[in-house]
This record gives sequence, C-alpha cells and structure tokens, in this order.
Amino acid sequence: MSRVPLPYNPKIIELFKNPKNAGRMEDATIVATVGSPICGDMVVIYLKINEKDEIIEKATFESYGCAANIATASILTEMIKGRKLVDVWKIGWKDVAKEIGGLPSVKAHCGILATGALKKAIREYYAKKGFMPKWLPKELTVEEKHVLEEEKLAEALSKKVKI
Ligand code: FES
Repeated sequence: MSRVPLPYNPKIIELFKNPKNAGRMEDATIVATVGSPICGDMVVIYLKINEKDEIIEKATFESYGCAANIATASILTEMIKGRKLVDVWKIGWKDVAKEIGGLPSVKAHCGILATGALKKAIREYYAKKGFMPKWLPKELTVEEKHVLEEEKLAEALSKKVKI
C-alpha cells in the first residue's frame, strides 16, 4: 500500500532539507529536551543567552522528529535570535505555524513540541538563576502541558507494551 504524501508547503520542505541552526551548541547557557525517546519524537533546544540583557544571542536545535518538527524547530530558532526572553516567551505554536506558512492539522503537535522546548528552556533558565520574572506565569502554557502529556503517554505505553 502506498503512503499518501502530506500537504507540506514549500517552506517546510525547504527547511526540512536545509534546516537553519541545526546541531548541538557546546557553549549553551541552557539546554532543554522535550519529547520521548520511546516514540522517537524529541527536540533539544540550545540557547546562548546574554545574561546582562537577557537576549538570546544564539539558538540551535536537534530534532528526532518528523519533517514538520525539523522545519518548525528551525524557523523557531530564527524567530528568537537576537530577541529578549520576555518577548520570545510570548511566541506560541500558532505563531510558528503561521511563520512557516501553515502546518497540516495532524502535524500541529510537531510545532507544539518545538515551542514547548523553548518555553521549557526559558523556565529552566530562570529556575537555575533562582528567580521568576513577573512576566513568567506560574501556570504552564498550552505547549508545556501538551509536551508533558505526550511524555506521560509515551511512558505509559512503554510499560504496557513489553516485548
Ligand atoms: Fe511527532 Fe512530527 S514530531 S509527528
């Protein structure tokens, strides 16, 4: 049986083939991983932060997800470079989907995973510093909740399916 190709737009295809900012960053200020090694959908975000101005100087990623995940993580790193953490925090998965020219609905999760990784990195950055800026909500965002749910689901499934 042949597989029906997903309706990816040319921008997604291009970023999948030639992702920007892909790869590990040795001198990152903070690194955050989301997803599950069990199902294979994982994203790691690396941020180099100018701590005085709270500006993201460099952002890279590693993706173990699909084409849409690679493309959304790539465009997200482009969207946040050179910007302040307070502004970057406001970027949601829908902004990323818009920036990339739209995602097929079954691939929304791929963009959520990338954005969730960014939010996790920002939260962990402040946790490491030991203070919470006023603009950082205590309650988890949609993206963070989604990521946690996926991780729990993958863990539950791995316990259920033992070969
Ligand atoms: Fe899971 Fe794209 S990252 S399907």
